[in-house]
Amino acid sequence: MKLSKVILTGAVGLVSLSLAACGGGSSGDSSDGSGKGSSGQTVFKLAFNQTADHPQYEAGVALGKKLEEVTDGRYSVKVYPNEQLGGQADVIQNLSNGTVELMWVGAPVLEGFNSDFIVFNLPYMFDSTEAQGAVLSNTEALESLYHSIEDSKGITVLTGVNAGTRNIYNSKHPVVTPADLQGMKIRVQQSDSQVAMIEAMGAIASPMNQGDVYSALQTGVLDGAENNEVTWDALKQDEVAKYYSYTKHLMLPDYLLMSTKALNKMSEEDQAALLGLIPEIQQIANEGFAAFTQSSIEHATSIGAEFNDNVDIEAFKTLTQPLVDSALSGNDTRQALYQVVQEANAAYPAK
Ligand code: GCU
Repeated sequence: MKLSKVILTGAVGLVSLSLAACGGGSSGDSSDGSGKGSSGQTVFKLAFNQTADHPQYEAGVALGKKLEEVTDGRYSVKVYPNEQLGGQADVIQNLSNGTVELMWVGAPVLEGFNSDFIVFNLPYMFDSTEAQGAVLSNTEALESLYHSIEDSKGITVLTGVNAGTRNIYNSKHPVVTPADLQGMKIRVQQSDSQVAMIEAMGAIASPMNQGDVYSALQTGVLDGAENNEVTWDALKQDEVAKYYSYTKHLMLPDYLLMSTKALNKMSEEDQAALLGLIPEIQQIANEGFAAFTQSSIEHATSIGAEFNDNVDIEAFKTLTQPLVDSALSGNDTRQALYQVVQEANAAYPAK
């Protein structure tokens, strides 16, 4: 289990950590690992790698409340923020073996389980937030992808949500052209596609868990990272890497995942009740994200961060296009998903 010094400080964090570690995080949790408390309620643990201000935290809490209502109290959810249950790459293994029931995950982490998830993680894939939203609401087109790792990994994808546009930030200077990234060590999420992307853009890739990024930036192990404004500001990385440049290279979804074992343990009626809540949870996360982005920009500005909108995006697109071509070539499943993206891009072009 990884602890971020930045986000998990003080007694409160440590108390919840030890409760999480012994499976006693809420009144409904069991001490025998069954997830059932004395009240007979099953409380699903939802692992989250960011703060309790984040809309995905709120969406998780809302899921718990609504689930309690629609199952007459048989099920609820407790959200563990700040990597209390571990970094994403580790906690997904626990989801796979059923000891954690729910988690929010950055899309690239799923590529290790089914490489076809790569399509939405390719540089410059979506032309607008609305286009991405249209794809992530197209449940028919996504159905087989979302169920593709149930048999092999015991993981069901419940939904995907917008997690902003990702841009490069660093402690040195604004990035205008790929030459500005030469020699810089930039953190990426743990997947081959993310490593290849940042290297094509001209930097040196350093894959790591989110909870380790702040101190790596602070100590100079990293020169920078790439993320949306929300994560950069909420995790205080703007204090140690203040130059934020709008390379707009990615619009990665986050997915809400569930342990297939936990889902299958529910009665058919309760499963249907849970799945019926998902569109609403998706909407709560999406709407909250747009508002949180604005307040993150304002806060970052107030502490002296510098935004740079003068980026040679065409140069970065040209450098990364071969990655898109090679990921899509000769693979019918990916081509079909790409077609869905293309249609959404045509319907909702960049503004
Ligand atoms: C974003 C995304 C997370 C992801 C994180 C990261 O914040 O919403 O799911 O884990 O980036 O880069 O690790």
